[in-house]
Amino acid sequence: MPEPAPAIVLQALTAGHFGGPAVLHDLHWQVAAGSRVGLVGPNGAGKSTLLLTLAGVIPARQGTATVEGFDLTTLAGRRGVPQVMGLLLQDPDDQLLETSVAGDVALGPTSQGLSAQEITARVDEALLATGLGTYRQRVPQRLSLGEKKRVALAGVLARRPTIILLDEPTAGLDPRGRRELIALLAGLSATLVVATHDLELVLELCSAATVMDGGRFVALGFPRDLLADGPLMDGHGLEVPWPLRGQLRADRCP
Ligand SMILES: Nc1ncnc2c1ncn2[C@@H]1O[C@H](COP(=O)(O)OP(=O)(O)OP(=O)(O)O)[C@@H](O)[C@H]1O
Ligand SMILES: [Mg+2]
Repeated sequence: MPEPAPAIVLQALTAGHFGGPAVLHDLHWQVAAGSRVGLVGPNGAGKSTLLLTLAGVIPARQGTATVEGFDLTTLAGRRGVPQVMGLLLQDPDDQLLETSVAGDVALGPTSQGLSAQEITARVDEALLATGLGTYRQRVPQRLSLGEKKRVALAGVLARRPTIILLDEPTAGLDPRGRRELIALLAGLSATLVVATHDLELVLELCSAATVMDGGRFVALGFPRDLLADGPLMDGHGLEVPWPLRGQLRADRCP
Protein backbone atom coordinates (compact mmCIF):
# COMPACT_ATOMS: atom_id res chain seq x y z
CA MET A 1 0.00 0.00 0.00
CA PRO A 2 1.35 3.49 -0.80
CA GLU A 3 2.52 5.58 2.17
CA PRO A 4 0.04 8.34 3.12
CA ALA A 5 1.20 11.88 2.28
CA PRO A 6 3.00 13.53 5.22
CA ALA A 7 0.78 15.79 7.31
CA ILE A 8 3.53 18.42 7.61
CA VAL A 9 6.40 19.17 5.24
CA LEU A 10 8.93 21.93 5.93
CA GLN A 11 11.84 22.76 3.68
CA ALA A 12 14.34 25.45 4.67
CA LEU A 13 11.62 27.23 6.66
CA THR A 14 12.47 30.57 8.23
CA ALA A 15 9.90 32.42 10.36
CA GLY A 16 9.65 34.97 13.17
CA HIS A 17 7.21 37.09 15.12
CA PHE A 18 5.70 40.20 13.50
CA GLY A 19 8.21 43.04 13.29
CA GLY A 20 10.94 40.94 14.95
CA PRO A 21 13.96 39.02 13.74
CA ALA A 22 13.75 35.47 12.42
CA VAL A 23 13.29 32.98 15.27
CA LEU A 24 13.10 29.76 13.24
CA HIS A 25 15.98 29.03 10.89
CA ASP A 26 16.30 26.58 8.01
CA LEU A 27 13.87 23.95 9.33
CA HIS A 28 13.52 20.72 7.38
CA TRP A 29 10.82 18.37 8.70
CA GLN A 30 8.35 15.72 7.68
CA VAL A 31 5.63 14.58 10.04
CA ALA A 32 3.85 11.41 8.97
CA ALA A 33 0.04 11.51 8.99
CA GLY A 34 -1.27 9.94 12.19
CA SER A 35 2.08 10.09 13.99
CA ARG A 36 2.74 11.76 17.35
CA VAL A 37 5.82 13.95 17.52
CA GLY A 38 7.33 15.34 20.71
CA LEU A 39 8.99 18.73 20.25
CA VAL A 40 11.49 19.39 23.02
CA GLY A 41 14.11 22.03 23.76
CA PRO A 42 15.08 24.67 26.32
CA ASN A 43 13.12 27.86 27.04
CA GLY A 44 13.25 30.16 24.05
CA ALA A 45 14.19 27.35 21.63
CA GLY A 46 11.32 28.28 19.32
CA LYS A 47 8.82 25.50 20.06
CA SER A 48 5.82 27.77 20.52
CA THR A 49 6.88 29.90 17.57
CA LEU A 50 6.98 26.78 15.39
CA LEU A 51 3.49 25.73 16.49
CA LEU A 52 2.17 29.24 15.76
CA THR A 53 3.77 29.08 12.33
CA LEU A 54 2.27 25.66 11.59
CA ALA A 55 -1.12 26.99 12.65
CA GLY A 56 -0.83 29.86 10.18
CA VAL A 57 -0.74 32.53 12.90
CA ILE A 58 2.81 33.58 12.03
CA PRO A 59 3.80 33.75 8.35
CA ALA A 60 6.55 31.60 6.90
CA ARG A 61 9.19 34.05 5.64
CA GLN A 62 11.37 31.82 3.51
CA GLY A 63 11.39 28.22 2.38
CA THR A 64 8.34 26.04 1.93
CA ALA A 65 5.83 24.84 4.48
CA THR A 66 2.73 22.77 3.88
CA VAL A 67 0.30 21.41 6.47
CA GLU A 68 -2.30 18.94 5.19
CA GLY A 69 -1.65 20.42 1.76
CA PHE A 70 -2.18 24.07 2.85
CA ASP A 71 0.73 26.24 1.71
CA LEU A 72 1.73 28.38 4.70
CA THR A 73 3.73 30.79 2.56
CA THR A 74 0.44 32.13 1.14
CA LEU A 75 -2.31 34.06 2.92
CA ALA A 76 -4.94 31.68 1.51
CA GLY A 77 -3.04 28.70 2.92
CA ARG A 78 -2.63 30.33 6.34
CA ARG A 79 -6.34 31.15 6.44
CA GLY A 80 -7.30 27.66 5.32
CA VAL A 81 -5.22 25.59 7.70
CA PRO A 82 -7.43 26.19 10.78
CA GLN A 83 -10.14 24.13 9.00
CA VAL A 84 -8.16 20.98 9.69
CA MET A 85 -6.03 21.99 12.64
CA GLY A 86 -6.47 22.45 16.37
CA LEU A 87 -3.97 24.47 18.41
CA LEU A 88 -3.75 24.29 22.19
CA LEU A 89 -1.90 27.44 23.24
CA GLN A 90 0.72 27.39 26.00
CA ASP A 91 -1.26 29.90 28.08
CA PRO A 92 -4.99 29.00 28.29
CA ASP A 93 -5.82 32.64 29.13
CA ASP A 94 -4.92 33.42 25.51
CA GLN A 95 -7.43 30.81 24.30
CA LEU A 96 -10.56 31.13 26.42
CA LEU A 97 -12.90 33.85 25.20
CA GLU A 98 -16.47 33.05 26.24
CA THR A 99 -18.29 33.54 29.53
CA SER A 100 -19.26 29.89 30.00
CA VAL A 101 -17.32 26.69 29.51
CA ALA A 102 -19.97 25.23 27.19
CA GLY A 103 -20.06 28.47 25.19
CA ASP A 104 -16.29 28.45 24.82
CA VAL A 105 -16.14 24.84 23.68
CA ALA A 106 -18.92 25.58 21.17
CA LEU A 107 -16.91 28.36 19.47
CA GLY A 108 -14.99 26.02 17.17
CA PRO A 109 -17.89 23.91 15.89
CA THR A 110 -19.98 27.09 15.52
CA SER A 111 -17.29 28.67 13.34
CA GLN A 112 -17.34 25.49 11.24
CA GLY A 113 -20.97 26.22 10.35
CA LEU A 114 -22.39 23.04 11.91
CA SER A 115 -26.06 22.62 12.84
CA ALA A 116 -27.19 23.46 16.40
CA GLN A 117 -27.78 19.76 17.05
CA GLU A 118 -24.28 18.82 15.87
CA ILE A 119 -22.71 21.65 17.90
CA THR A 120 -24.45 20.39 21.06
CA ALA A 121 -23.26 16.83 20.35
CA ARG A 122 -19.68 17.99 19.78
CA VAL A 123 -19.67 20.07 22.98
CA ASP A 124 -21.09 17.20 25.05
CA GLU A 125 -18.55 14.77 23.62
CA ALA A 126 -15.59 17.11 24.23
CA LEU A 127 -16.66 17.95 27.80
CA LEU A 128 -17.09 14.26 28.57
CA ALA A 129 -13.69 13.37 27.08
CA THR A 130 -11.94 16.03 29.18
CA GLY A 131 -13.81 15.25 32.40
CA LEU A 132 -15.63 18.59 32.40
CA GLY A 133 -19.21 17.32 32.38
CA THR A 134 -20.11 19.34 35.48
CA TYR A 135 -18.37 22.53 34.33
CA ARG A 136 -20.76 23.61 31.57
CA GLN A 137 -21.92 26.86 33.17
CA ARG A 138 -18.66 27.77 34.93
CA VAL A 139 -16.86 30.96 33.89
CA PRO A 140 -13.63 29.86 32.14
CA GLN A 141 -11.63 32.82 33.42
CA ARG A 142 -12.44 31.82 37.01
CA LEU A 143 -11.09 28.29 36.82
CA SER A 144 -7.77 26.94 38.05
CA LEU A 145 -4.90 26.71 35.58
CA GLY A 146 -5.33 22.95 35.09
CA GLU A 147 -9.09 23.34 34.65
CA LYS A 148 -8.58 26.11 32.09
CA LYS A 149 -6.15 23.91 30.19
CA ARG A 150 -8.81 21.19 30.00
CA VAL A 151 -11.44 23.62 28.73
CA ALA A 152 -9.05 24.86 26.06
CA LEU A 153 -8.38 21.24 25.04
CA ALA A 154 -12.10 20.51 24.93
CA GLY A 155 -12.48 23.48 22.57
CA VAL A 156 -9.79 22.01 20.32
CA LEU A 157 -11.33 18.51 20.32
CA ALA A 158 -14.82 19.83 19.58
CA ARG A 159 -13.57 20.90 16.15
CA ARG A 160 -12.41 17.31 15.42
CA PRO A 161 -9.18 18.41 13.75
CA THR A 162 -7.07 15.93 11.79
CA ILE A 163 -3.91 17.55 13.14
CA ILE A 164 -3.50 18.86 16.68
CA LEU A 165 -0.69 21.07 17.95
CA LEU A 166 -0.36 21.01 21.72
CA ASP A 167 1.81 23.54 23.58
CA GLU A 168 2.70 22.26 27.04
CA PRO A 169 -0.51 20.25 27.42
CA THR A 170 0.42 18.77 30.82
CA ALA A 171 1.61 22.04 32.42
CA GLY A 172 -0.52 22.75 35.46
CA LEU A 173 -2.25 19.36 35.47
CA ASP A 174 -2.22 17.23 38.61
CA PRO A 175 -0.90 13.64 38.25
CA ARG A 176 -4.37 12.17 37.72
CA GLY A 177 -5.28 14.85 35.19
CA ARG A 178 -1.97 14.25 33.43
CA ARG A 179 -2.60 10.50 33.21
CA GLU A 180 -6.12 11.10 31.91
CA LEU A 181 -4.79 13.52 29.31
CA ILE A 182 -2.18 11.03 28.10
CA ALA A 183 -4.85 8.32 27.79
CA LEU A 184 -7.10 10.74 25.91
CA LEU A 185 -4.36 11.79 23.48
CA ALA A 186 -3.26 8.18 22.97
CA GLY A 187 -6.79 7.34 21.84
CA LEU A 188 -6.93 10.03 19.14
CA SER A 189 -6.28 9.20 15.50
CA ALA A 190 -5.20 12.76 14.66
CA THR A 191 -1.60 13.70 13.91
CA LEU A 192 -0.16 15.22 17.10
CA VAL A 193 2.72 17.63 17.60
CA VAL A 194 3.41 18.12 21.30
CA ALA A 195 5.76 20.88 22.47
CA THR A 196 6.68 20.04 26.03
CA HIS A 197 9.18 19.97 28.87
CA ASP A 198 7.43 16.79 30.09
CA LEU A 199 9.93 14.34 28.61
CA GLU A 200 8.21 11.33 30.15
CA LEU A 201 5.08 12.32 28.24
CA VAL A 202 7.12 12.21 25.03
CA LEU A 203 8.46 8.77 25.94
CA GLU A 204 5.02 7.44 26.67
CA LEU A 205 2.97 9.05 23.93
CA CYS A 206 5.17 9.92 20.97
CA SER A 207 6.41 7.87 18.05
CA ALA A 208 9.05 10.46 17.10
CA ALA A 209 10.89 13.34 18.73
CA THR A 210 12.59 16.51 17.57
CA VAL A 211 15.05 18.49 19.68
CA MET A 212 15.14 22.24 19.02
CA ASP A 213 17.56 24.88 20.21
CA GLY A 214 18.20 28.40 19.02
CA GLY A 215 15.38 28.13 16.49
CA ARG A 216 16.97 25.13 14.76
CA PHE A 217 16.37 21.42 14.79
CA VAL A 218 19.38 19.78 16.40
CA ALA A 219 18.21 16.13 16.45
CA LEU A 220 15.36 14.06 15.05
CA GLY A 221 14.65 10.42 15.85
CA PHE A 222 12.93 7.94 18.10
CA PRO A 223 12.09 9.35 21.54
CA ARG A 224 14.01 6.61 23.38
CA ASP A 225 17.17 7.16 21.36
CA LEU A 226 17.21 10.94 21.68
CA LEU A 227 16.08 11.27 25.27
CA ALA A 228 18.57 8.63 26.50
CA ASP A 229 21.45 10.57 24.90
CA GLY A 230 23.01 12.33 27.93
CA PRO A 231 25.36 14.67 26.01
CA LEU A 232 22.51 15.67 23.64
CA MET A 233 20.17 16.36 26.54
CA ASP A 234 22.81 18.20 28.62
CA GLY A 235 23.92 20.21 25.62
CA HIS A 236 20.44 21.61 25.09
CA GLY A 237 19.24 22.35 28.60
CA LEU A 238 17.39 19.05 28.97
CA GLU A 239 17.82 15.97 31.17
CA VAL A 240 17.59 12.26 30.50
CA PRO A 241 14.18 11.38 31.99
CA TRP A 242 14.06 9.09 35.02
CA PRO A 243 12.74 5.95 33.31
CA LEU A 244 15.70 6.02 30.90
CA ARG A 245 18.25 6.78 33.64
CA GLY A 246 17.25 3.52 35.35
CA GLN A 247 17.64 1.72 32.05
CA LEU A 248 21.09 3.23 31.50
CA ARG A 249 22.21 2.10 34.95
CA ALA A 250 20.81 -1.40 34.37
CA ASP A 251 22.54 -1.55 30.97
CA ARG A 252 25.90 -0.85 32.62
CA CYS A 253 25.49 -3.65 35.20
CA PRO A 254 27.53 -6.76 34.36
N1 LIG B 1 5.32 37.55 20.57
C1 LIG B 1 6.64 37.55 20.40
N2 LIG B 1 7.25 38.59 19.78
C2 LIG B 1 8.58 38.60 19.57
N3 LIG B 1 9.42 37.60 19.95
C3 LIG B 1 8.87 36.56 20.57
C4 LIG B 1 7.46 36.47 20.84
N4 LIG B 1 7.21 35.30 21.47
C5 LIG B 1 8.41 34.68 21.61
N5 LIG B 1 9.40 35.44 21.08
C6 LIG B 1 10.82 35.09 21.01
O1 LIG B 1 10.98 33.96 20.16
C7 LIG B 1 11.97 33.08 20.69
C8 LIG B 1 11.38 31.68 20.80
O2 LIG B 1 10.35 31.73 21.79
P1 LIG B 1 9.31 30.55 21.95
O3 LIG B 1 8.22 31.07 22.82
O4 LIG B 1 8.96 30.03 20.63
O5 LIG B 1 10.21 29.48 22.74
P2 LIG B 1 9.79 28.11 23.41
O6 LIG B 1 10.73 27.07 22.92
O7 LIG B 1 8.34 27.88 23.22
O8 LIG B 1 10.12 28.39 24.94
P3 LIG B 1 9.37 27.87 26.31
O9 LIG B 1 9.97 26.53 26.60
O10 LIG B 1 9.78 28.90 27.30
O11 LIG B 1 7.90 27.83 26.07
C9 LIG B 1 12.43 33.68 22.01
O12 LIG B 1 13.65 34.34 21.79
C10 LIG B 1 11.35 34.65 22.36
O13 LIG B 1 11.85 35.72 23.10
MG1 LIG C 1 6.75 27.77 24.46
